[in-house]
Amino acid sequence: MPAAVYGTPPADVLETPKGARQLSPLIPGSDDIAQIADASLQDVALLVPPGAVEARYVVAQALRVLAPGGTLVAAAPKDRGGLRLKRTLESFGCQVAETARRHHRICAVERPASLTEIEAAIAEGAPRLMPSGLWSQPGVFSWERLDSGSEQLLRHLPKLKGQGADLGAGIGWLSRAVLESPDVTKLRLIELDRRAYDCARRNIEDDRATIEWADVRNIAPPLADLDFVVMNPPFHDGGAEDRALGQAFIRVASSALRKGGTLWLTANRHLPYESVLNEAFKVVKPVADASGFKIYEARR
Ligand SMILES: C[S@@+](CC[C@H](N)C(=O)[O-])C[C@H]1O[C@@H](n2cnc3c(N)ncnc32)[C@H](O)[C@@H]1O
Repeated sequence: MPAAVYGTPPADVLETPKGARQLSPLIPGSDDIAQIADASLQDVALLVPPGAVEARYVVAQALRVLAPGGTLVAAAPKDRGGLRLKRTLESFGCQVAETARRHHRICAVERPASLTEIEAAIAEGAPRLMPSGLWSQPGVFSWERLDSGSEQLLRHLPKLKGQGADLGAGIGWLSRAVLESPDVTKLRLIELDRRAYDCARRNIEDDRATIEWADVRNIAPPLADLDFVVMNPPFHDGGAEDRALGQAFIRVASSALRKGGTLWLTANRHLPYESVLNEAFKVVKPVADASGFKIYEARR
């Protein structure tokens, strides 16, 4: 019977079963764990995501898709959910063998014949319509509310015109505002997290928009000749701060814009984006500095 892996666990922490299908929403092209039939897999290896609700959801889904007697091996860094992993598995009715390696807690279980409480955990972590009127899901960026950096950017964003892109579009907050301008003719939303991408597809019904599940650093066909780009770039990768990721977004935005095209960017004040902005753009204008965020308008 087939096997699956969720995420990319370090090889010296968890062994990935041979021929395993990938289930992480952060890897474009992977399968959605929610779409896998009950009791259809024999082995699952899981690098448990950090959020508590998201982690319970993924562990519950992994147990649901395993056949009774199948094996789940789950690991999480000690300081990002590892310490609660054994309790989580026990709450679902599993007998757990726990070990520790390389700052991770690793729990191995045989899927019992009957499970408890997994339906509630799956319901709690599932996509839902929020009071904002937008679809979201635990685990996606700022899943419960509009991020403060994006809110600041929306305060300063003029009515845009022509063709543009929203890089790291999330569930579509910025794109919805951009599409309020009737002069916008096309908008490409690029997002790495399949959960956010799925929500964006529900949140944006507009023929001018195309929504793509992809890594901004590797888009095909590449973005070109755009009039504008909007973005609140990520600065975390795999849970750790990664400033190079935001800097890569800035370079992609620059190469996507036509001469004279404009980037609208929001970023945490502490992030070192000025030098890459100055390298990649002709004019860089700080538009606002409030509540810990800086807003830039940069012209190519
Ligand atoms: C700071 S959030 C902004 C989300 C959304 N634009 C908003 O304003 O709410 C950055 C987004 O970039 C996405 N992301 C991270 N790495 C990415 C990559 N390499 N390519 C595309 N999107 C990425 C994240 O999943 C997240 O949704």
